[in-house]
Amino acid sequence: MKEQIESIRAELEALAAGEGPAASSSRELYELKMEYLGKTGKISALSKGMRDVSPEERPAVGSMVGELRKRAEELFEQWERELKKKELSAKIAREKIDVTMPARFAETGSVHPVSLVRQELIDIFAGMGFDVFEGPEIEKDYYNFQALNIPADHPARDMQDTFFITGEYLLRSQTSSGQIRVMENKKPPIKVLSPGRVYRSDSDATHSPMFHQMEGLVVDRGITLNDLKGMLDEFARRMFSSNTKTRLRPSYFPFTEPSVEVDLSCSNCGGKGCRICKGTGWIEVLGAGMVNRRVLENCNIDPDEFTGFAFGIGLERIAMIKYGIGDIRLMFENDVRFLKQFKG
Ligand code: PHE
Repeated sequence: MKEQIESIRAELEALAAGEGPAASSSRELYELKMEYLGKTGKISALSKGMRDVSPEERPAVGSMVGELRKRAEELFEQWERELKKKELSAKIAREKIDVTMPARFAETGSVHPVSLVRQELIDIFAGMGFDVFEGPEIEKDYYNFQALNIPADHPARDMQDTFFITGEYLLRSQTSSGQIRVMENKKPPIKVLSPGRVYRSDSDATHSPMFHQMEGLVVDRGITLNDLKGMLDEFARRMFSSNTKTRLRPSYFPFTEPSVEVDLSCSNCGGKGCRICKGTGWIEVLGAGMVNRRVLENCNIDPDEFTGFAFGIGLERIAMIKYGIGDIRLMFENDVRFLKQFKG
């Protein structure tokens, strides 16, 4: 019994004299600790062996075992502390950061030019008291054409190359459909903007099968073409520059009478004539007019009591003029080299 105690003690002291146990993790060290101090460990076995020791020797042997246990506990505590320290410094070394390394920058996105124009227009017109209404892109023939005074088989339908889904449903070709949806549900005074995507079977440097429009509609007592002109002047000054002028030319739309095409003086050359305005000094930006009385009647608004005007702005067209973009397709290719230029 005494030899056993001595040999276990010698084992432990040998470890303590050297570099401690070879345990490389606290798990390994714990397992080693259990070999000595666990319930079935070597030292616990000694305690159990006490009953075979003669009563005379028992106190002496008992206190040897007790001392061995104390020493073992002491050593393991020390080793645990040392291992923890080692693990911590290894962790610190592993997670060390080099503060002199160049930073990695996260790319931030930018707002799409069409969204920029859309937001700016909404800001300008919201300041004049307009609400915003967004109608559906899959639209009924009735809202896109018939209620806008364009009957089935009427030649005015040829003004737009429309994508039909069924005989009754189509991809809206103009946000003017929003006019009807608004007037159907609200009686004058009406002052509303209707922005959104529109679709036409058309594709080249200045036309895209999907593009964006923003419709404006004002209906109240005593609204005249002069109100339209005044509002468009304000829009031109705010969107482009304070000396931008507007010009109305007679035109035709089935849902307005009279109808006008609106030009802005070229902000690039100031009206002298350049590449952008093709030498004319003017750039066509939108269609507009006084709401046709037939359209008011279709929405149960009395045209003898109320009048109104409407306009439709192409957002890509405004972006192209404002930012000098030469090809509409650039706006739908999602090339970050193009999009990045609209940061800030
Ligand atoms: N909807 C017309 C177009 O797309 C534009 C327009 C809107 C004209 C409102 C007059 C009034 O060409």
